[in-house]
Amino acid sequence: MPVEHEASAIRISPNGRVCNYRDGAIPLPLLHGPYSLVERVMMQAPVILVTGSTRGIGAALAEALGARGAAVIRHGRKEAPGVVGADLGEPASAEMLWEQALEMAGGAIDILVNNAGLFAANPIDASDIAWLDGWEETLRINLTSAAQLSRLAVRHWQARGVGGRIVHVASRAAYRGDSPAHWHYAAAKGGMIAMHKTIARGYAAQGILSFAVTPGFTNTDMAGDYLASRGGPGLLADIPLGRVASPEEIAAIGVFCALDAPASMTGAVIDANGASFVR
Ligand SMILES: NC(=O)c1ccc[n+]([C@@H]2O[C@H](COP(=O)([O-])OP(=O)(O)OC[C@H]3O[C@@H](n4cnc5c(N)ncnc54)[C@H](OP(=O)(O)O)[C@@H]3O)[C@@H](O)[C@H]2O)c1
Repeated sequence: MPVEHEASAIRISPNGRVCNYRDGAIPLPLLHGPYSLVERVMMQAPVILVTGSTRGIGAALAEALGARGAAVIRHGRKEAPGVVGADLGEPASAEMLWEQALEMAGGAIDILVNNAGLFAANPIDASDIAWLDGWEETLRINLTSAAQLSRLAVRHWQARGVGGRIVHVASRAAYRGDSPAHWHYAAAKGGMIAMHKTIARGYAAQGILSFAVTPGFTNTDMAGDYLASRGGPGLLADIPLGRVASPEEIAAIGVFCALDAPASMTGAVIDANGASFVR
């Protein structure tokens, strides 16, 4: 059983890690230098699973979280050195990813970042079956797998009697919608925001907090393909800032949500789109 100090709401988890999620920032050990994941876990750094962290926003997030001293578990479709492989298009893979990450972390994960995502065109004049396949693939990767992982994380923290944090990387599309070939992408991101708010409201009293980031165009492979297909510089005219975001800018917001945001911010959605969509 965890040791609880109700007055200060500080909890000590079974592996000795001090968790103070309820009241704000997460204490980090001072880890400077190229420590391995195992060394960081042993030094009781907060363990963070970042999905889709082989490239783009997820890679920038993993880098920035590691620089802050966290023990980051990286994930991509395929296994590679330092990367857990799990194709989230497969229904069983979210659970396998969680189990493998838990094993690497010695049984305790503190923070989940749902970042993996797919942005594939699904034109409405495709065949019925092709359109349905495209819809289901995007919903599974961008929403269902994030829901599966979030559920496993919430139950994991409840079973340990500790708090935890989830950061969802959604999209401006959740509020604004997307192109005619991306009904599925907008629907998945809108669903992610609704799920995020539900988690935040449902478990805040248990110290389980949820945050969401909604980027606009960000300079990754994903946006590069889209911008090229939709006229490139013309699209930039819609962004008052005059440029797309860098992955490092979005990562900075993700790091804040994961490590620094006060508990009262749970349920918040942070926009980052160069004022291209202001709500
Ligand atoms: N870039 C933008 O303009 C933008 C705007 C708004 C929101 N977002 C959101 O930000 C997140 C990151 O986007 P990004 O631009 O960094 O994308 P990216 O550069 O294309 O990287 C996508 C990441 O997700 C992983 N991934 C994709 N399909 C997967 C699958 N089936 N199973 C497991 N992992 C999979 C990729 O792993 P592999 O390397 O193994 O393929 C990669 O690590 C996404 O959720 C995206 O919707 C991006």
